[in-house]
Amino acid sequence: MPTKTNRSVEAVSIKIENLHKSYGDTKVLHGVSFDVEPGQIFSLMGPSGSGKSVMLRQLIALEKPDEGSVLIDGLDAQDPKTRDAIRTALVFQSGALMNSMTVYDNLALYHREHRSLSERDIKAKIQSVTEALSIEAALKKIPAELSGGMRKRVAVARAIIMEPRLILYDEPTSELDPILAATTSELIATVCKETGATSLVVTHDRQLALGISNRVGLLLSGHLEFIGTPDEMRSSDDERVQEFLNPKLDLENPRFRKKENAL
Ligand SMILES: Nc1ncnc2c1ncn2[C@@H]1O[C@H](COP(=O)(O)OP(=O)(O)OP(=O)(O)O)[C@@H](O)[C@H]1O
Ligand SMILES: [Mg+2]
Repeated sequence: MPTKTNRSVEAVSIKIENLHKSYGDTKVLHGVSFDVEPGQIFSLMGPSGSGKSVMLRQLIALEKPDEGSVLIDGLDAQDPKTRDAIRTALVFQSGALMNSMTVYDNLALYHREHRSLSERDIKAKIQSVTEALSIEAALKKIPAELSGGMRKRVAVARAIIMEPRLILYDEPTSELDPILAATTSELIATVCKETGATSLVVTHDRQLALGISNRVGLLLSGHLEFIGTPDEMRSSDDERVQEFLNPKLDLENPRFRKKENAL
């Protein structure tokens, strides 16, 4: 990816301390703590239902934790001023692009809304980002007309065009074929390297997390079971970590047995 388009940003640190979150009687997060250093990629892994999205919602202050804190560059994530101070981009699983407008207009939206650039500058910026991500052919289309992989790249383009200091990815490789998943993983690593933005990836894709992250965490039933480098995780002697990394298909498991009298 060319470097000319991406000015380096001042990356931020994340400090998550003792987060607890319940919904009624359901306790989801049981005191989760971890740090992410500026400019690094941290992947939070965990099986379905382990609390990854709930964690992300506390981080972007969509919800308020029952206990504990999230500090972004030392600022309380719950404080509305923090969001203005720290340009944060969220790459949603679905892309969350607007289907009422073209890809070009989706990409222009942030700077138009913030009146931060002239139309001419917006055009130049879109051109360089779309060239870098090879999505020029998509510009005149609406997102609904694109394939899943192309949509994901457009979602990444929309995120980096705002020159964020922090990029959060929610399941960036789900629903992608293995080749596109690998390309998307490379893209996340390249974007982090080129822009310098701190990146937090929430995923159950082991290949993605272990392949590109500086550090990884494993969330199991709302507890952070493991935190360390990808190498430390691969060689961990924690049974539950190994079970997550190398799940065995056991057809004798009662879960898979055919029920008597089943249709
Ligand atoms: N608003 C809510 N009200 C009640 N329970 C909730 C709410 N949001 C999440 N939960 C519960 O919290 C648990 C964790 O959900 P979460 O969406 O964080 O899982 P996840 O790790 O992101 O899973 P997946 O990989 O499937 O996306 C689940 O048991 C879920 O049912
Ligand atoms: Mg989720």
